Amino acid sequence: MLKLAPSILAADFKNLGQQVSAVAEAGAHYIHLDVMDGAFVPSISFGMPVISSLRSCTDRVFDVHMMVEEPGRYVSDIKAAGADLICVHAEACVHLDRTVNQIKEAGLKAGIALNPATPLSVLDCILPEVDMVLIMSVNPGFGGQKFIPYTLPKIKALRAMCRERGLETDIQVDGGVTCANVRQLIEAGANVFVAGSAVFKGDAVANTKEFLKIFGEYER
Ligand code: DX5
Ligand code: ZN
Repeated sequence: MLKLAPSILAADFKNLGQQVSAVAEAGAHYIHLDVMDGAFVPSISFGMPVISSLRSCTDRVFDVHMMVEEPGRYVSDIKAAGADLICVHAEACVHLDRTVNQIKEAGLKAGIALNPATPLSVLDCILPEVDMVLIMSVNPGFGGQKFIPYTLPKIKALRAMCRERGLETDIQVDGGVTCANVRQLIEAGANVFVAGSAVFKGDAVANTKEFLKIFGEYER
């Protein structure tokens, strides 16, 4: 199933609750929450208090993208804040297997994110253990960047790798996703689409519906 995960990083922070409720009611499947520590990525965004205060706005999946060094330190706190899925960067975990298992043992879905230049080979051993792989299509840290084209064949190669192994792993793509390029991403094999600017800049409800309409072209 194709899923839309609006990233609140591009939302109007003074009306965050209202914005989250609006995209959820318009049919967005996940709410994508970008946690940044100012170390793994240059910027600092928000953390547990913001996630927990939004939890009452919707029962949609809270998809927490941890752009944080050693995110294993925060699994129980992020769970307590209301996460359903925690995605950690392979580049940020010395003991990636341990961190993935911490997330699963907490009863949450586990994802691994890869920066644009990180090869798929880092997934070789651990792919069967995760629910989702996040292919970053920009360098993480900021919204509103341009999609990096070489990540498209990377998505195709990952889908082929999953198929060869009989895995139905979710493939999420994050960074520069728009209604203009999402068809190419679907055709490459991704099925979960993060969109920040393309949803929240302008009319978030109309933009959400536009993505869902495109998904409908593939689900008839
Ligand atoms: C970037 C974040 C993204 C960001 C995407 O580091 O991980 O989720 O919000 O923003 P857009 O869709 O504007 O590229
Ligand atoms: Zn993200």
